[in-house]
Amino acid sequence: MHPSQLLAAVSYMTDLNPEGSCHHSWRVALLGQYLASIIAPDIRNDVFYAGLLQDIGAVGAIKHITAYDTLNLQTIDHHICAHPQRGSAILQWLPGMSEAAGIVRSHHEWWDGRGFPDKLMQDEIPLGSQILHIADAADTAGCFSNRASFAKGLHSLAGLTGCAWSNDLWAAFVGSTKDTAFYSQLLDQKSLSKLIAQTCAELKIPGELDNDEGIERILHLVAALVDLKDPATKGHSIRTARYAQALAKHMNMLAEDVHMAYRAGLVHDCGRLGLPADLVNRTGRISDKELALVRAHAAMTIKTFKCVPDCPEMEALGEIAGHDHERYDGKGYPDGLTGERIPLVSRILSAVDAFDAMISARSDRMLSPKAAVIRLQQNAGTQFDSDVVDAMVDLAGDGGLCQELVMAA
Ligand SMILES: [Fe+2]
Ligand SMILES: [Fe+2]
Ligand SMILES: [Fe+2]
Repeated sequence: MHPSQLLAAVSYMTDLNPEGSCHHSWRVALLGQYLASIIAPDIRNDVFYAGLLQDIGAVGAIKHITAYDTLNLQTIDHHICAHPQRGSAILQWLPGMSEAAGIVRSHHEWWDGRGFPDKLMQDEIPLGSQILHIADAADTAGCFSNRASFAKGLHSLAGLTGCAWSNDLWAAFVGSTKDTAFYSQLLDQKSLSKLIAQTCAELKIPGELDNDEGIERILHLVAALVDLKDPATKGHSIRTARYAQALAKHMNMLAEDVHMAYRAGLVHDCGRLGLPADLVNRTGRISDKELALVRAHAAMTIKTFKCVPDCPEMEALGEIAGHDHERYDGKGYPDGLTGERIPLVSRILSAVDAFDAMISARSDRMLSPKAAVIRLQQNAGTQFDSDVVDAMVDLAGDGGLCQELVMAA
């Protein structure tokens, strides 16, 4: 698994919905790097990775950022208002991404100073941010929905020249549209994932991030995004990862499987990023239809890690992470797998995920770790794999899980 492919998957997550992804950030990144290759080749790579992660700070917004009709409506939602700073701060945490973080911070500034968050003007705005802004606006205006909307979208943007962006940038953008081969690819949903994979391979990410530690950082970032979406379950992903790692180790699994348990634990709930924010944060009862939607997060996790073609390692991570709601008796989801057809690491995740949910449940439903283990035992052989539960009882008796609890607190 290459870190750049993983970043493409994180980008996909920011545009996730129950049907798949609207691919907004992919198109902005692709168009941004293309414009940069013409105007400012030196910053092409930074513009691409900033484009992929431009809206990472908008997690938790009421609607997808492109679904607001006007700029005013967009900025009423504080998640949208703060997303450039928040996204930039998140990116600063990835080694080698400080240039991209700077571009993200200013990608909603306007040439005439009416943008946000810093009300920069003209050349105060980094060129990479100006490029992302025009690419973002073109996609939000629907330029790439279909061929007919391309001309209509361009027409609606023309009037913003001199206000939202400079005359020179507009001229460069319009000039670039003569490259029909490139723009046809942007318009074709089916060719996007291939184009993203090609561009990831071509535009190297900074060396600091291009290693195993970089991959781990990105997976931790995904865990943090899930927390941002649902602050009530803060720390759930990292705790699940730590318990899963401890349990896999205790079961004498191969080092690579122990590693997989940790990584899959970090991302096991990433499909929740595609659920409506009001549903994720709801504390009261939910309807059957809404429950089906909540359950769809597991399939969305699997789909997310398949978003880039020919990346078997990433796909395997998604398969294991997304099957953590299967039940040993076959009554789980998303595929109703039974017994040992469920990957062992997924069976481990299933038990530790439920364990963490029980010990950190809100109000009176919260159980002590001891009571939670007893609850797992009561459901061994039906919901959970008995061997996994036995190992968990053993580990809890050892004090191992309790130690993990203290570490994760
Ligand atoms: Fe944005
Ligand atoms: Fe889940
Ligand atoms: Fe979970």
